[in-house]
Amino acid sequence: MHKPILIIGACGQIGTELTFELRSKYGAENVIASDIREGGEALMQSGPFELLDATNYAAIEDVVMHYEIDEVYLMAAMLSATAEKFPMRAWNLNMNSLFNVLNLAKEKKISKVFWPSSIAVFGPNTPKQNTPQSTVMEPSTVYGISKQSGERWCEYYYKKYGVDVRSVRYPGLISWKTMPGGGTTDYAVEIYHEALKKGSYECFLDSDTELPMMYMDDAIRATVSLMDSPAEKIKVRSSYNLAGMNFTPKQMAESIAKHISAFKISYAPDFRQEIADSWPSSIDDSAARKEWGWEPRFDLDQTTQEMLKNLKG
Ligand SMILES: NC(=O)c1ccc[n+]([C@@H]2O[C@H](COP(=O)([O-])OP(=O)(O)OC[C@H]3O[C@@H](n4cnc5c(N)ncnc54)[C@H](O)[C@@H]3O)[C@@H](O)[C@H]2O)c1
Repeated sequence: MHKPILIIGACGQIGTELTFELRSKYGAENVIASDIREGGEALMQSGPFELLDATNYAAIEDVVMHYEIDEVYLMAAMLSATAEKFPMRAWNLNMNSLFNVLNLAKEKKISKVFWPSSIAVFGPNTPKQNTPQSTVMEPSTVYGISKQSGERWCEYYYKKYGVDVRSVRYPGLISWKTMPGGGTTDYAVEIYHEALKKGSYECFLDSDTELPMMYMDDAIRATVSLMDSPAEKIKVRSSYNLAGMNFTPKQMAESIAKHISAFKISYAPDFRQEIADSWPSSIDDSAARKEWGWEPRFDLDQTTQEMLKNLKG
């Protein structure tokens, strides 16, 4: 039997689907969902739930002791676009929640940690195409700075204290079960909702802004596969590059038009354009492929098909 797992930030875009997946794999009672707010009905009814603030060490420790938690997945964070509006709140949440979990592992109260990083760790001076695992990283957003610092601390806790922490740099994630939480790639989810509702979409990024993206099923599979891998295979203890597909808003609109022929897209770039311009267009994830067997399954047209089918209901 798998030892109990705690997911912090379980009601968000990734946490919701991760909770469902881990519950189906390890049993609902073995996966404790937690968040600072309640989530969707399906999530709330699927197993144990605790209201928990990720910045409160004592509260997390209580839950860890009560359920004899062995692994923590830390999904609570403030995302890129929102973080630009509330820099200090973002820094406090993103860093303190990570320290809380890393310190629980350092004190041997838990034995494994998953913490997601992001393509936002890269910046305007990073090579944009096929961005390497190790390269120039000068993030220009609050969110990117917090993720890059987080990566450094993860590696530090692994090297100094032997903490088994694992991480991937998620690209923009596309999913239909929950709405995205304030990131720069949110357009790639909103567009499907609007295509079905109105037949048109006004995009907050320019037509040719190419970004790395991934369908949620691939992201969840990558997460579970990384956490399942034997520790000796995990050579990168900061965070692994992870790639699915790359496309521009224009290409996404063309993919949707294959199903909704009258679909129209217009462009009104806002402050998120500058964030997107500082990020890579494509990612080299050969280390993840080589070391723990990562391989994506969904391309843009498959994603479009799944999104439209599931959102139509
Ligand atoms: N979604 C993406 O495209 C993407 C891409 C790269 C990295 N990530 C990373 O993955 C993780 C999860 O992202 P997401 O898209 O699911 O985010 P989200 O915003 O959808 O969900 C975050 C969840 O954290 C919760 N939360 C906020 N403050 C909290 C607190 N103090 N205590 C407990 N919970 C709190 C929120 O209520 C929310 O349910 C984050 O670390 C994010 O940076 C996401």
